[in-house]
Amino acid sequence: MAKKKKARKRNFTSIFIVFVILVIIAGSGYFGIKYYKYIQTFEYKLKEIGYSKEEITTITNKLNDKEIEALLDKQYYPNLIKFINQKYFIYSNLDRYQNYYIKNSEKTIEDIISIVNVEADNEFYTNVKEADMSKGNLILVNKFYKLPNDYAAEDLKPITLQFAYSGHQIKEEVLDHYLDMAYAAKKEGLTLIVTSSYRSYDFQKSLYNGYVNSSGKKEADRYSARPRHSEHELGLALDIVTYNTTMDEFEQTEEFRWLNENAYKYGFILRYPKEKEHITGYKYEPWHYRYVGVEYAKKIYDEGITFDEYYAYYLK
Ligand code: DAL
Ligand code: ZN
Repeated sequence: MAKKKKARKRNFTSIFIVFVILVIIAGSGYFGIKYYKYIQTFEYKLKEIGYSKEEITTITNKLNDKEIEALLDKQYYPNLIKFINQKYFIYSNLDRYQNYYIKNSEKTIEDIISIVNVEADNEFYTNVKEADMSKGNLILVNKFYKLPNDYAAEDLKPITLQFAYSGHQIKEEVLDHYLDMAYAAKKEGLTLIVTSSYRSYDFQKSLYNGYVNSSGKKEADRYSARPRHSEHELGLALDIVTYNTTMDEFEQTEEFRWLNENAYKYGFILRYPKEKEHITGYKYEPWHYRYVGVEYAKKIYDEGITFDEYYAYYLK
C-alpha cells in the first residue's frame, strides 16, 4: 500500500516537473518572441542610437517609414527634433540643415530651413542648374536656376498704353490678367503703369552690364539678375508703378497698398519681398510682380512665403 502511494507521489512529482519545464519553455518562447519583435521596432532602434522617448514620439509621428529607415543608418542628430518640427522641413535636406546650422548657429531654425530649401546654403550663382521648363507659369528662375541658352519667350503681346509706358510687351495670358487688375484698380481711382516687362536676353545682358559699370558687380547683383536668370526674360514678370513716382517711392503709394492686398486675385505675387534677400538673392522690390496664375498666387499669398520657398517645398 505504502509502495503504491510512493509511486503515485513520484508520478505526480515527475508530471509536475514536466509541467514546470513546459511552462518555462513556453514562457521563454513567448517572451523571446516578444523581445525579438521589440528589437525590430523603430522605437528600440532609435533608442539604441540615442534618441529619448519624447524624441522618438516626434520622429515616429512626423517621419514616414522610409525616412525613419534612412535615419537609422545615421548617427544621433542633436538638432533633429528642432528641424522636424518646422513646417517646411524636407527630409532629404537633413544633412544640409545640420551642416549649415553648425556654421551659422546664430540664425533661427526657420531661416536655416528656408535657406537650405532654396539652396542658398550655396553661394549665389554657384551650383547653377537649368530651370525646369516643364513648369509653365511656375518656372523658377533665380540665382541657382537659369533659362536654357536657346530660350525665347513666346505669345508676347504689346501692353495697352493706358496701363504702361510705351514699347512694352508681355505674354498674352499675363496681359489679360494684368488688364483685369489695372481696370479693377482704376475703379478704385488708382493708376497702375508698367515700367518694365518682357526683356530679351540681349536687353537683360546690357541692363546688367550697365548696372555693373555704375554700381560694381557686388551691388548690381543685389538688384539686377544676370542674363538668363531674370523672370523678365520669361515674359512672366512686370515692374508696376504709378505716375509721378520713382520706383523707390512706389512703396508709399496707395497703388502699392492696393496691389499688396489684391494682386494675388489676378495671379500675381510680390516676388522680392522686404527682408528676404538671403532667400531670394535680391533687395526688396515693391514694383516687381511675377505672374504664376490665380490658383497658385492665392496659395503663395496665403502661405506668406517667397516663391523660391514655395517652389522648393511644393513644386520641385
Ligand atoms: N530686378 C530683377 C531681379 C531682375 O533683374 O530680373
Ligand atoms: Zn522686375
